[in-house]
Amino acid sequence: MMVNTMDLTKYYSQGKEKVVALEGVNLTIEESEIISVIGPSGSGKSTLLYILGCIDSPSRGEVSLNGSRVDFKNNSSLVLLRRKLIGFVFQTFNLMPAMTAAQNIEYPMYFNKTPWIKRRERAMMLLESVGLTNRANHLPTELSGGEQQRVAIARALANDPMLILADEPTGNLDSKTGKTILDLMRRLNKEEGKTIMLITHDMDVAHTADRVISIMDGRIQ
Ligand SMILES: Nc1ncnc2c1ncn2[C@@H]1O[C@H](COP(=O)(O)OP(=O)(O)O)[C@@H](O)[C@H]1O
Ligand SMILES: [Mg+2]
Repeated sequence: MMVNTMDLTKYYSQGKEKVVALEGVNLTIEESEIISVIGPSGSGKSTLLYILGCIDSPSRGEVSLNGSRVDFKNNSSLVLLRRKLIGFVFQTFNLMPAMTAAQNIEYPMYFNKTPWIKRRERAMMLLESVGLTNRANHLPTELSGGEQQRVAIARALANDPMLILADEPTGNLDSKTGKTILDLMRRLNKEEGKTIMLITHDMDVAHTADRVISIMDGRIQ
């Protein structure tokens, strides 16, 4: 099992109000599976992604990643999990604006202490795999939305993670460009065995995955 959650629950306090973002979620994702999580806005999808990605911590319940229980109190182990096990892809691409495409991909490898010559080599290899060799020295503002998302996917792959967490990766793209991004995700799953969780509110997007999980008011249906 790549991902396993038990009774995963998350509350946010909003002034006096308690917002239930996730409630008793039991979810298993096998290694090399590609699943989508679909649900309306506010149903808890991003909260689930942030907790599985060790960016946020649960109010109650447990998460295991690649067979090990996540210790949400141990910050240095969370940093290592995020760096080595997980790659993130966001709706808004989130590239560093002052860095070129190649530098954006090299950046996570810097934190992983990869020697600089290897960083450059791997960044160029990843750019090639997403079809952007000729955009290596472009800044994000000099790239289309689809190209930015391909750079972001290459960046997510920089440290060769087992698990890719994608939050509405096609949400800011037209449907044709979105399709090339989904094709790329599927290719990473089929050819490289990456485990992928794809969050969306779009049924057509969801159905590109092997399994669709639906979430409503913080609960899996
Ligand atoms: N930091 C936060 N503080 C308070 N409430 C939050 C916070 N983040 C999310 N929520 C609430 O939790 C619920 C789930 O949000 P979210 O996971 O972002 O949903 P989705 O990604 O499905 O749109 C929503 O009601 C949202 O308003
Ligand atoms: Mg969201």
